[in-house]
Amino acid sequence: MATHKLLLLPGDGIGPEVMREVEKLIGWFRKRGTGFETETDLVGGAAYDAHGVAISDAAMARAMNADAVLFGAVGGPKWDGVPYEARPEAGLLRLRKDLGLFANLRPAICYPALADASSLKREVVEGLDIMIVRELTGGVYFGEPKEIVTLENGQQRAIDTQIYTTGEIERIARVAFDLARKRRNKVSSAEKHNVMRSGVLWRKVVTQVHGDEFADVQLEHVLADNCGMQLVRWPKQFDVIVTDNLFGDILSDIAAMLTGSLGMLPSASLGAEDSQTGHRRALYEPVHGSAPDIAGRGLANPLAMIGSFGMALRYSFGLIEEADLLERAIAQVLAAGLRTKDIAPAGANAVATSDLGDAIVKELETLS
Ligand code: IPM
Ligand code: MN
Repeated sequence: MATHKLLLLPGDGIGPEVMREVEKLIGWFRKRGTGFETETDLVGGAAYDAHGVAISDAAMARAMNADAVLFGAVGGPKWDGVPYEARPEAGLLRLRKDLGLFANLRPAICYPALADASSLKREVVEGLDIMIVRELTGGVYFGEPKEIVTLENGQQRAIDTQIYTTGEIERIARVAFDLARKRRNKVSSAEKHNVMRSGVLWRKVVTQVHGDEFADVQLEHVLADNCGMQLVRWPKQFDVIVTDNLFGDILSDIAAMLTGSLGMLPSASLGAEDSQTGHRRALYEPVHGSAPDIAGRGLANPLAMIGSFGMALRYSFGLIEEADLLERAIAQVLAAGLRTKDIAPAGANAVATSDLGDAIVKELETLS
């Protein structure tokens, strides 16, 4: 039996609480005979407290050797004062960069039972199923120079640099077009070519890749600001949205609210396929952050983390039946009315993080 090596990096804030629920699921799949081997390590503020860095070299080495990394969340006010290089987020950025995880897949699905939890009208979000493909290792997140310099007149000047090369745009465009073919065959490419040279190149390269390799897929170009507006106006017009690192960060937070709560959105970050083994490095994380305000109180919604594990089953391990089963269990539990506070209607009873995790395990048992 194949053994899948998972590295768990729970991190800070609600990270450990939501990861605990995924560990229950791993245990359940293990009992049924799926070979999972897990290791756990520190990242973010937790790593800083232990080692003085946002992720240790040892943890990085474990991540390199794992078949997939499951990541909780990092950050919190406790680490506001730590040096910039050691801030909790730096651990996540190092993982993305050093593992070469250039393709970030952020599906936004509105479960029927949750259509009323969104801040938008039911008819706008009901049945929504879109995929944001965010470039994750380039752009303004990593471009150099990136610094604050002091000028002769005593003022300071801050610089971040947005850089994209042809190759970086081509490979993310291919991921988006490939995904679209398995869905509703439409890609919307979001940039700002009206003010940014990187946007001009982005649009040109996406158009080229489309014409050369994916002419059967429908392609539209949309300005990133307009894309944000269209997402809240009529999101169902989209299928796959492909965009750069920063726009993708913002647009995926908007998309998360369409599904009812930031607590619902999973994500997968994938590297290039190894030409020998076909394996791709991968990290799976909820889109929500560490939510320090509710950490440790059993209030967190574990579904984004659980959904991220589901994406690992699908994209890293090819366990499609298991992934489908897990998605059905999530839908069933929601349909039965179980809600954490973030998705519960006003005045209704909310269940604790661990109750929702237990309910998913029980539902898996029933469905299988
Ligand atoms: C995300 C987060 C990260 C990002 C932070 C924690 C660095 O907001 O994954 O969306 O900006 O990419
Ligand atoms: Mn974000």
